[in-house]
Amino acid sequence: MTYGELMISVLDAAPDPMSAPAIGWGVLGAGRIAGSFSDAVGTSTRSRVVAVGSRDAGRGREFADKHAPGARVGSYEELVADPAVDAVYVATPHSHHRDHALLAVAAGKHVLVEKAFTRNAAEAVEVLNAARRAGVFVMEAMKTRHLPHVAAIRALVARGEIGDVVSVTGNYQVAFPYDETSRIFDPALAGGALLDIGVYPVAFAMDLLGVPDEVRATGFLTRTGVDAQSAIALRFGERAVASVTTSVQSPSPTSVTIGGTAGNIQIAGHAFAPTGFVVEWADGGRKEFDGFVEDGKQYEAAEVARCIAAGAVESARMSWQDTLDLMAVLDAARGQLGVVYPGE
Ligand SMILES: NC(=O)c1ccc[n+]([C@@H]2O[C@H](COP(=O)([O-])OP(=O)(O)OC[C@H]3O[C@@H](n4cnc5c(N)ncnc54)[C@H](OP(=O)(O)O)[C@@H]3O)[C@@H](O)[C@H]2O)c1
Repeated sequence: MTYGELMISVLDAAPDPMSAPAIGWGVLGAGRIAGSFSDAVGTSTRSRVVAVGSRDAGRGREFADKHAPGARVGSYEELVADPAVDAVYVATPHSHHRDHALLAVAAGKHVLVEKAFTRNAAEAVEVLNAARRAGVFVMEAMKTRHLPHVAAIRALVARGEIGDVVSVTGNYQVAFPYDETSRIFDPALAGGALLDIGVYPVAFAMDLLGVPDEVRATGFLTRTGVDAQSAIALRFGERAVASVTTSVQSPSPTSVTIGGTAGNIQIAGHAFAPTGFVVEWADGGRKEFDGFVEDGKQYEAAEVARCIAAGAVESARMSWQDTLDLMAVLDAARGQLGVVYPGE
C-alpha cells in the first residue's frame, strides 16, 4: 500500500458529521463553549439547537440571537421539559455537571456532558446509574476522541505502523488571567488545570493505552487551592508510560508525541483540536498528514445523533466505563496534589 492509499484508508475512520441523522439540541448554560458547540452544530451538522437554557433570560436571548437563531429561551427546567429537545448539552462549570445531567436525565432526555464529566468518580456513578435506570444516552464530551486526526492516528497505531506504543507525552498549558471568582480558579466551581485542560492529555493516553496501573502526580496549587501546575506520570503494566503536564499559568504550545518501538507520531499544532500530525519511522522515513477542519465539535455532536438513532445508551468511542476510568485517574492525581472541592 502506498502512503497516499494508507492515508485515504485511515481518513475513513472519522465519518462525515453531515451524514449523521438530525436531532434537536437543547443547550444548558449560555457560556463560552456552548457558543462554539452551537455554531458547530448549526453550520456542520444536520441537527439544530432548538432551545437554550440560562439562569438569565436576557443572556439566554442574546446567546440564541448569536448562536442559535430561532431557538426558544427559558430556564434550565423549561429547557429539559421542551418536547422539541432530543438531547441536552450540559455546558456549565464542573461543579454543576452532576446536578444538571441528573435534571436532564430525570426529564427523559439524552445528555452530552462537557468534560470533566463530574467533579469526581462518585458523582459520575450517580449520573450513569440514573441514565441506566432511565434508559437514556449519556456521553462525556471528550471531543478529541471523535476528531479526524485522532481517528487516523488510532488507525495507524492499530495497523502497527509505529510498532508497539511505549510512551505518550502530552502537554496542555494555558495562562488564564488570575481571577479568584472565575470557574478556572474557584474551588466552589471545581476549578484547576487538571479537570479543565489536563483531562485531555490524560484521556488521550488512556485512549491508546487503557487503564494505568499506577498514577503519580506532583505540582502546586493556586492561592485559591486549585491545581496551578502539575506533572502526572502514568504506568501501564510493564509495556508503556505516559507523562502529562498541565497548567493554568503558562501559555505553552499544546503537544502530544506518541512513541512506538518502530517510529513515533507527533501531533502538530493544537493537539486536542482538529489538526495534522507527522509520522517518523526508525529508518528515517517521515510523512506529514494535514487534518485541519473547523472547530471540531460537530464530530462529537454527530456521534450523539448516530448513537441515539441506533438506540444506544452509550458511545463505543467514549463509553461509560471510559468516563469512570478517567474520573478514577483524575481523582487519584487530584488526591496526590491535595485539591479538595468544597462539599466533597
Ligand atoms: N470542549 C471544549 O473545547 C471546552 C473548552 C472550554 C471549556 N469546556 C468545558 O465547558 C464547560 C463550560 O466552560 P465555559 O468555558 O464555557 O464556561 P463559562 O463561559 O463560564 O460558561 C459556563 C456557563 O454555565 C452557566 N452556569 C450555571 N451555574 C453557574 C455558576 N454557578 N457559575 C458560573 N456559571 C454557571 C452559565 O450560564 P447561564 O448563566 O447562561 O445559565 C455560564 O455562562 C466546562 O465543563 C469546561 O470544562 C470545554
